[in-house]
Amino acid sequence: METRPLGQSGLHVSVLTFGTLTFGGEGDRADRVGSVGVTEARTMIDLCLEAGVNLFDTADGYSDGRSEEILGAALAGRRHDVLVATKVFFRNGALTNDIGLSRHHIIRSCEASLRRLNTDYIDLYQAHNFDAITPLEETLSAFDALIQSGKVRYIGCSNYGGWQLMKALAISDRDRYTRYVSQQVYYSLIGRELEFELVPLGVDQGVGILVWGPLAQGFLTGKYRRETGISGQGRYAFRGEPPIHIPEAQAYDIVDALDAIAEERGVSISQVALNWLLNKRGVTSLVFGARTLDQLRDNLNAAAWRLSADELTRLDAVSAPPIPYPYWHQRKYASERNPFSY
Ligand SMILES: NC(=O)c1ccc[n+]([C@@H]2O[C@H](COP(=O)([O-])OP(=O)(O)OC[C@H]3O[C@@H](n4cnc5c(N)ncnc54)[C@H](OP(=O)(O)O)[C@@H]3O)[C@@H](O)[C@H]2O)c1
Repeated sequence: METRPLGQSGLHVSVLTFGTLTFGGEGDRADRVGSVGVTEARTMIDLCLEAGVNLFDTADGYSDGRSEEILGAALAGRRHDVLVATKVFFRNGALTNDIGLSRHHIIRSCEASLRRLNTDYIDLYQAHNFDAITPLEETLSAFDALIQSGKVRYIGCSNYGGWQLMKALAISDRDRYTRYVSQQVYYSLIGRELEFELVPLGVDQGVGILVWGPLAQGFLTGKYRRETGISGQGRYAFRGEPPIHIPEAQAYDIVDALDAIAEERGVSISQVALNWLLNKRGVTSLVFGARTLDQLRDNLNAAAWRLSADELTRLDAVSAPPIPYPYWHQRKYASERNPFSY
């Protein structure tokens, strides 16, 4: 499988990253999201390694920590063959300070993640969201201390806005803290908002892009159709998240276009949706999910072939998002000086 450098770091990651949100669900969560246990996780990791995946993504909040525990157990004996990414931010206790990106919460959460993952280092430690209450200086110095101590090797952020990420990078440069090497962001054929700020920022600043929800949590797999709407057992039917911010008719036009290309090519709709993203500017790797072994096998094949220029143009056209200000203005009046303004 192709690998790409993670931002401006020396680390190369596979273009597909396996996300472990489906690990460890119990009760209601098992039905909604998934309940992959250690044995199945081991098989999933075998398949990923065979296909060339070298990065595995989890978070302390997934299944209340069970996802990290299962990933750690399933990696026993081969921890050093792979890269492990996890995250911190969300509430993991009842106390006031059991949330966010304070030095207190980051360091405690990191220690807990290391224990659950059964490892002594995290390859990529990510801020799971933006904390407007903690000064970025405090967050970045806490991450830097973890890097200096050897417990963390690289840091990234997730779900930051453009100015928030730019401010963090500027502080890191000014105060000589390690920079975020990557941003983990939602990007799919029905969610292209980030093309206006976060992608150009990532390209300009050398921050890698790890895409979460590349199948729009199942919406882009062919199981939801215009005729039947959003129903059934899939995760998207439970939460409807990420929300569809484009007209619903357009979302189903996108599914139709995927369907047509999938049929012409003899591949699955999911593979076409993933392959389109592999061709987008600034993208480093797709953090995809799978509830079952069949879904995993299907998705792993997405990196084994390439959409043609004509197919990419068809998908770009059907999924074109509205252009927000000031980018429509730059496009209309200043495109000669702003060829990559979005
Ligand atoms: N940073 C963040 O804030 C954030 C947020 C969300 C996720 N993530 C990360 O990104 C990873 C992927 O996110 P995601 O699960 O939302 O992404 P996704 O890849 O868009 O959706 C995965 C879901 O789609 C369905 N699916 C996947 N492959 C399929 C196939 N070939 N055929 C039919 N259905 C298929 C399955 O759900 P059903 O079977 O239930 O339909 C599966 O759980 C997560 O595991 C996590 O590591 C990060």
